[in-house]
Amino acid sequence: MADPFLIGDEMTGGYGAADILHGCTVAVEKGEIAVIVGPNGAGKSTAMKAVFGMLALRGGGVRLNGEDITALTPQARVAKGMAFVPQTNNIFASMTVEENLEMGAFLRRDDIAATIEEVYHLFPILREKRRQAAGELSGGQRQQVAVGRALMTRPSVLMLDEPTAGVSPIVMDELFDRIIEVARTGISILMVEQNARQALEIADKGYVLVQGRNAYTDTGKALLADPEVRRTFLGG
Ligand SMILES: Nc1ncnc2c1ncn2[C@@H]1O[C@H](COP(=O)(O)OP(=O)(O)OP(=O)(O)O)[C@@H](O)[C@H]1O
Ligand SMILES: [Mg+2]
Repeated sequence: MADPFLIGDEMTGGYGAADILHGCTVAVEKGEIAVIVGPNGAGKSTAMKAVFGMLALRGGGVRLNGEDITALTPQARVAKGMAFVPQTNNIFASMTVEENLEMGAFLRRDDIAATIEEVYHLFPILREKRRQAAGELSGGQRQQVAVGRALMTRPSVLMLDEPTAGVSPIVMDELFDRIIEVARTGISILMVEQNARQALEIADKGYVLVQGRNAYTDTGKALLADPEVRRTFLGG
């Protein structure tokens, strides 16, 4: 069977002597949305860092579009079409919104104006606030800056670690709508979400991680319908 577009395959590794990931697999197909959920400390962020090359693996590997990229640095992965919005410190607070977007395009040598325009089209509030320091924006707006910055490299894969953390339910719904819109343009979305139920509703594929291992893997719909998953991870 052919590989998914992006796969972190049976990843084992951690930050020091002790492994955090134990044969953990996450993957996403072209233009689809894959969602990783699980309890705090399950290794969701660690799995994302491993896929992005911020963690040396002791076992397993990462493949993008059929190519083994396990040994590549994060920057080399960006050049291959990957973009990552980490869970924390994902904007430059003292820089303006537009400067944040320009920073996102640091690897590009071509004209970035059209891409900035696309980001403003996706997130109209950012056009209004483009001269304002990103740190002065609301939580939801800052997340839009972070996603917009990641889109500036015109990635084929967008990785998001808890994009709706700390925002209201209405802002969360709006962000999910924008993420669906991005996926419809053919960009693959691999994201971690604390709002598990809502995220699985928009997920083509869902991964429940527990203690660095895959506990359940299925379509978002199937996971939402699974009584065991509901009781243990979705609050009934
Ligand atoms: N930089 C680090 N150095 C050492 N250990 C770390 C580091 N980052 C995370 N860990 C440990 O790895 C484990 C998994 O953490 P991780 O951040 O991947 O969990 P998570 O599923 O993303 O949790 P959360 O839902 O709270 O974001 C935890 O035990 C954590 O303490
Ligand atoms: Mg995390």
